[in-house]
Amino acid sequence: MHSFLPLLFTAAAAVAHPQARRQARQAVLGTSTVTLSNDTGTPGHLASGILYGIPDTPDQIPDALYTDMGFNYARAGGAQVAAPGRGWIWGLDEYKVRFASALSNYQTTRKYGASFIFLIHDLWGADGTQNSSAPYPGDDGDWTSWDDYLTQWISDMNANNATAGLSIDIWNEPDLSFFWGTRNQSQYLEMWGRTYPRLRAEWPDVPLIGPAAAEEPSLSSTWWVNFMSFVSQNGTVPDEWVWHMEGGGGDMLSAQAGLYDLLNTYDLPVKPINIDEYSTYPEQVPAGSAWWIAQLERVDAVGLRGNWLSGWQLHDFLASLLSKSNTSDATGTGYYPNGDYQVYKYYNLNMTGHRVGSTPSDDLLLDTYATVGTDLVRVLTGVRIQNGTWQVTINDLSAVGLPTSGTLDIHTWGFTWNDHFGEVDGPTDLGYYGHNYTGDSVTFPIFQTDVVTAYAFEFAVGS
Ligand SMILES: *[C@@H]1O[C@H](CO)[C@@H](O)[C@H](O)[C@H]1NC(C)=O
Ligand SMILES: *[C@@H]1O[C@H](CO)[C@@H](O)[C@H](O)[C@H]1NC(C)=O
Ligand SMILES: *[C@@H]1O[C@H](CO)[C@@H](O)[C@H](O)[C@H]1NC(C)=O
Ligand SMILES: *[C@@H]1O[C@H](CO)[C@@H](O)[C@H](O)[C@H]1NC(C)=O
Ligand SMILES: *[C@@H]1O[C@H](CO)[C@@H](O)[C@H](O)[C@H]1NC(C)=O
Ligand SMILES: *[C@@H]1O[C@H](CO)[C@@H](O)[C@H](O)[C@H]1NC(C)=O
Ligand SMILES: *[C@@H]1O[C@H](CO)[C@@H](O)[C@H](O)[C@H]1NC(C)=O
Ligand SMILES: *[C@@H]1O[C@H](CO)[C@@H](O)[C@H](O)[C@H]1NC(C)=O
Ligand SMILES: *[C@@H]1O[C@H](CO)[C@@H](O)[C@H](O)[C@H]1NC(C)=O
Repeated sequence: MHSFLPLLFTAAAAVAHPQARRQARQAVLGTSTVTLSNDTGTPGHLASGILYGIPDTPDQIPDALYTDMGFNYARAGGAQVAAPGRGWIWGLDEYKVRFASALSNYQTTRKYGASFIFLIHDLWGADGTQNSSAPYPGDDGDWTSWDDYLTQWISDMNANNATAGLSIDIWNEPDLSFFWGTRNQSQYLEMWGRTYPRLRAEWPDVPLIGPAAAEEPSLSSTWWVNFMSFVSQNGTVPDEWVWHMEGGGGDMLSAQAGLYDLLNTYDLPVKPINIDEYSTYPEQVPAGSAWWIAQLERVDAVGLRGNWLSGWQLHDFLASLLSKSNTSDATGTGYYPNGDYQVYKYYNLNMTGHRVGSTPSDDLLLDTYATVGTDLVRVLTGVRIQNGTWQVTINDLSAVGLPTSGTLDIHTWGFTWNDHFGEVDGPTDLGYYGHNYTGDSVTFPIFQTDVVTAYAFEFAVGS
């Protein structure tokens, strides 16, 4: 069926894809390796969180669309709600409109037992739409407005019993002018140093997390060095190390290494990593999402999908996983999943059992996330929105009860995509292919002929 160059592939065969033939003579760009003997623990589908994406009207999106994708983390604070709702800096009434939005999102989140990160910078009004003369906490050394704001917010949260499952990002992307204007980092650090002890005293069990920087942690980042140096001296170490991965570059192993360099240098503790915004808009396709899932799972980082929609659409579509019959109608229903959604659904519902370790290709473009269930081994592959030919090697087949040589029937699924607002109701069955293998290891190519499709490969475990 396909033409192969046996010299390029140790075990010829592949994705049963009509375009595969065209790519078959291209050189293999790299190999991602799965090691079946390396049990890395129970799957928690760590990447199934979202930034905003929840309608402010309760129950607007049907329950099954939350539960099937494994929704487990949300993050909101009333940004970009319809006027009049520009936050605290426009007065108490406009604060209340944002608070009502955030509270509704919190309550929806808790309905599914998920965790909620409150964005107090958005409730304040610094959601990126603020004008150039908008005030920031501590301007001209005056903290009155910020202190009053926290008093109001703490009182409203307590009045609404809204602290279970809560964590607080003390400010979002304080290293960017979108969110911190022209103010300097010293003013930010003073805000951190004043806010942390106040919230800790109020709610000792609510995680205070940060710094939610846009930039990855690294010893070569002056911003991060200043932050780490400050919190270590100030005794205000966040309960989770948070940053964002939305630049279109970088990878989780090197970002984690950058964090550890900083922790070692400033004698700071290891804490959970939370990437509470990941992926660019072009990466929000099955191939990109599968790549991010593999990256986040490898370092046990929680991940929340970034959200590139604006206005009321920011508060809908589960961060570009859904569409609906009228995408111009804020309160309309008629929801359906897009192609990207199907990756999360498979990741949550099908990838059960235990996780196993994998490595990305050396060029960091192909990555794999794999689980071993009682029935099947499942390997989800994603290329970081590039065309080309890569390959997957699966080692230690005997660890799942298979012989060390033989023929392995692999079932391939294609996760296609047709626009962020286009409906896709499930993966495409690309059939079975028998791969001969020896040496307890099988290798097969990934013909990535578009930049959006992810693949899943399944085979039965031995007895
Ligand atoms: C800018 O926003 C602030 C509130 O943040 C408001 O008081 C002020 O009037 C606005 N200025 C302009 C020119 O719109
Ligand atoms: C507050 O929330 C907690 C945890 O969700 C719940 O156990 C408790 O009953 C709630 N209290 C009130 C007064 O609603
Ligand atoms: C930060 O800005 C404040 C207010 O403009 C100023 O007083 C302070 O000197 C600045 N700090 C640094 C380190 O630039
Ligand atoms: C932490 O920083 C804040 C803000 O600069 C300061 O008010 C506070 O005294 C500092 N706390 C400690 C323990 O150094
Ligand atoms: C979609 O919703 C918008 C906003 O409510 C409305 O103006 C438009 O007529 C609707 N379109 C259709 C085809 O119903
Ligand atoms: C995922 O699991 C469901 C429920 O067992 C099953 O119906 C479906 O076919 C599986 N999907 C794939 C792609 O294997
Ligand atoms: C198992 O996989 C994890 C996660 O990728 C990795 O950190 C670890 O080094 C691997 N262990 C072995 C023995 O390969
Ligand atoms: C796989 O092995 C079988 C039996 O050993 C053999 O008949 C078949 O030709 C082999 N297939 C390939 C593609 O080498
Ligand atoms: C991938 O291949 C498709 C089909 O050949 C082409 O349209 C597209 O431009 C390519 N994209 C990239 C990023 O190379």
